[in-house]
Amino acid sequence: MSRLDFDFYESEDPVWNPALLTIPVPGIRKMVNLAATMDDVIHLSIGQPDAPTPPHVIHATIDALEAGQTGYTMDAGLPELLEALAEYNSERYGRPISPENILVTTGATEAIYLALTAVSAPGREFIVPDPSFMLYAPLIRMNGGEVKYIPTRAENNHQLDPQEVIDAIDNNTHAIILNSPSNPTGTVYPRETVEAIVQEAAYRGIYVLSDEVYDHLIYDNRDYASVLSCCSDLDHVMIMSSFSKTFSMAGMRIGWLIASQGAIRKLRRYHMFTTTVANTPCQWAGVAALRGDRSFIDKTVDIYRQRRDRLVELVNQTPYLEGYTPEGAFYLFPALPEGVNGNNVALRMLRETGVCTIAGDTFGESCRNAIRISYATSIENIERAFERIIPWMEKQDFG
Ligand SMILES: Cc1ncc(COP(=O)(O)O)c(C=O)c1O
Repeated sequence: MSRLDFDFYESEDPVWNPALLTIPVPGIRKMVNLAATMDDVIHLSIGQPDAPTPPHVIHATIDALEAGQTGYTMDAGLPELLEALAEYNSERYGRPISPENILVTTGATEAIYLALTAVSAPGREFIVPDPSFMLYAPLIRMNGGEVKYIPTRAENNHQLDPQEVIDAIDNNTHAIILNSPSNPTGTVYPRETVEAIVQEAAYRGIYVLSDEVYDHLIYDNRDYASVLSCCSDLDHVMIMSSFSKTFSMAGMRIGWLIASQGAIRKLRRYHMFTTTVANTPCQWAGVAALRGDRSFIDKTVDIYRQRRDRLVELVNQTPYLEGYTPEGAFYLFPALPEGVNGNNVALRMLRETGVCTIAGDTFGESCRNAIRISYATSIENIERAFERIIPWMEKQDFG
């Protein structure tokens, strides 16, 4: 075992809170660290946009720094950004959202951290699609909550069956986690699915926590059903999002959480005790992103869509990979034959072809025979990668 693979939380040192054991050895780091020791690696592993941040957003950050905007903002966020986010979300989702419904956070990651750890507690059960973004289950378990997974499958485009979610609700169910478009599957849930889940949850007094960081990366002019456009009020929902993916601002670390005013008041206090406030100059960048020219979004969505189409074709030509057409984000999560260990395949493929993907078990328990392929990279890189993957797969014998 290399030092990098060693799970230091499992050491005997009593200094660590045993709750940290819920945090897995990150599968993504393992692959990327190994790739860093190799030459000529093609990354299909990237979880962030490759397009440069729009220039007017960069200039707004520099202007803010030069104007001395380097102190703390108000705890809920920069008032100008709260106002811009309220207008943008009200307009986009056709419902009134006021600045008091919003908390500005350090990326969607902080919003997810605050939401999950503020509501998870022993005896509470959380329904989570499997596979899903790797933060949710550990944050729930760290605070004593339990995870009930709902498996989704490549053969079904990883769609979530709303009836299966509703049937999984029992007396201990506290919340349902949604992430559409999904990381790692790229699946976009249709409006009927989101409405059915949100309505049943409201009726049963259960929260829906919705991670919508990829809400703009939707292809083929599909309708996007944000939870914000499917709920009758904000009493049982929290929506987490950010500038990271839509505006290529991942490293600027600005996100937000939308919820009822009562929930925001509680979370504001918690936020004060975690990060205090988000990065001030980059909150100004967020104002520029929302108030300025947004044509960047359509341009990048069109580029991602072309890459997606090419990737789907190449996956369909690859032996042993069962693909589908993802409708959003920039991931495809093809399945290998049942029983094949995706972790071994991803590692061997990296070692033997120099193509870096991410093993399916990074994202849950029911998808050990899958790999995640990211198309946040050029069509040329995708094509070069499959010039290596296809002959390599042809040589495998997965029965
Ligand atoms: C589904 C999902 N949620 C949240 C995040 C984190 O976003 P942020 O950069 O805003 O913290 C990511 C990043 O990869 C993601 O894929």
